[in-house]
Amino acid sequence: MSVENKVIVITGASSGIGEASAKLLASHGAKVVLGARRESRLQELVRAIAAQGGQAAYRVTDVTNPADLTALVDLAKTKFGGIDVIFNNAGIMPTSPISALKTDEWNAMIEINLKGVLNGVAAVMPEFTKQKHGQIITTSSVAGLKSFAGSGVYGATKFAVRNLMEVIRMESAQEQTNIRTTSLYPAAINTELLHTITDAGSKQGMNKLYESVGITPDAVARVVDFAVAQPADVNVNEFTIYPTKQG
Ligand SMILES: NC(=O)c1ccc[n+]([C@@H]2O[C@H](COP(=O)([O-])OP(=O)(O)OC[C@H]3O[C@@H](n4cnc5c(N)ncnc54)[C@H](OP(=O)(O)O)[C@@H]3O)[C@@H](O)[C@H]2O)c1
Repeated sequence: MSVENKVIVITGASSGIGEASAKLLASHGAKVVLGARRESRLQELVRAIAAQGGQAAYRVTDVTNPADLTALVDLAKTKFGGIDVIFNNAGIMPTSPISALKTDEWNAMIEINLKGVLNGVAAVMPEFTKQKHGQIITTSSVAGLKSFAGSGVYGATKFAVRNLMEVIRMESAQEQTNIRTTSLYPAAINTELLHTITDAGSKQGMNKLYESVGITPDAVARVVDFAVAQPADVNVNEFTIYPTKQG
């Protein structure tokens, strides 16, 4: 059981969980295809992976644009001959109370955290259906399992993708297309995610929590590696990843 030679597309690969997963998977012989908006970060990551003997390619990708996802999947096919896994990981978390009415941020979360995942699903579904195998991994959140004040819209997007992954799993079993789905529910992981918060109260509370209990994103990367490495007839489909110290 190994990720070796699997072709894995990762969105949100320019920092945090995506970057850590790209490095770990590539170090175990996977061929990783990296998407995000910040090109310099992607270039540097591809260089770092190649320097360690790994295989990686990148394409500047905005997950809100369906054509960008299609092009990223096409890159996997032209560069590495196919696609086995998509890791829908790009996301933002500008939390705030609903009463603050930060409607632009609500819309941005729906565009990136929910429609961005749908765009990734749409980009791989024809290939996965045709080849009768594939894996869709999506980063939900503990805010996709239970409600938190301040996470009304963020949590709504994360509950939504949880439902989506489970329904794809069920429909694939019915349609006998062998598509595995995996939802990740991380808690406090130290990444750049808190930079997306503009509400002062939310930012202060989150910073305090993450400074006191946050763990590094390679904790999530190890789980991704484990899920991909399972045999084709085994779908380990949900993981909650808490810092041991977080209540
Ligand atoms: N950190 C946590 O505690 C935690 C907990 C639960 C769930 N999560 C989830 O984990 C995922 C990864 O976040 P992270 O914690 O690793 O934070 P991060 O370091 O801020 O990474 C977020 C990634 O998403 C990318 N991204 C944002 N908007 C994008 C867009 N429109 N198109 C393409 N890429 C976009 C960013 O790249 P560019 O800016 O370069 O595009 C970046 O690579 C998110 O879905 C987040 O909701 C994180």
